[in-house]
Amino acid sequence: MRKKIIAGNWKMNKTPSEAADLAAAIAEKAADAQCDVVVCPTAICIPGVAAKTAGTNVEVGAQNVHFKESGAYTGELSAAMLTEAGVKYVIIGHSERRQYFGETDETVNLRTKAALDGGLIPIVCVGESLSERENGITAETVCRQVKLAFLGIDKADAEKVIIAYEPIWAIGTGKTATAEQADEVCGIIRNTIGELYGDTSEKVRIQYGGSMNAGNAAELLSKPNIDGGLIGGASLKPDDFAIIIEAAK
Ligand code: PGA
Repeated sequence: MRKKIIAGNWKMNKTPSEAADLAAAIAEKAADAQCDVVVCPTAICIPGVAAKTAGTNVEVGAQNVHFKESGAYTGELSAAMLTEAGVKYVIIGHSERRQYFGETDETVNLRTKAALDGGLIPIVCVGESLSERENGITAETVCRQVKLAFLGIDKADAEKVIIAYEPIWAIGTGKTATAEQADEVCGIIRNTIGELYGDTSEKVRIQYGGSMNAGNAAELLSKPNIDGGLIGGASLKPDDFAIIIEAAK
């Protein structure tokens, strides 16, 4: 049985004090959570959020990690820096980073390896655009992204990786994939991992993301291949996020 994991991607929202307050509110509501709960604030908010969530059911995630341990990489953060600040998970290859910040399948792979080497759990995002879906290449697109993300990663590390299937057309748009569409692609992703690593695919957790909210989470999370959610907008509202956590029981 795969333990469900609900992660909030706060994106570029909340100042450090606001983030600390939000983390405290979520930690209180998640006191009885039966799934893993993660919040991913901006880097500058991590120490304050880590302080508020220490000793609670809520773990801290980052929104990116660099692939080198240190050096002349202005604006980047290493796995060791994040770990020392209390981070356990890191989102890699979010479609917004692919779209606006030049993230590629190759850098996603490098960051995934660096996260694993540094003891962080990667949440690797994959997903098709609207035109890819309309042109019938959803499966091909996510299979390619998954295969390239796992290049050079051994079986023991592969089972630690979390995949977030996020159809780009559903992110922040209020348009959710139907539970059947989401489950179908999560199943395709699991088969692809199976081609690479055999049985390990049964251990890898696959989240759905893209306008998951308090109203649709239960149905999405009831599907056999959906092991959790990566939530943007609704993760900024503690009551809504709490309902999603509850739906993951
Ligand atoms: P959304 O974002 O829930 O606001 O659609 C999801 C994400 O981008 O991870």
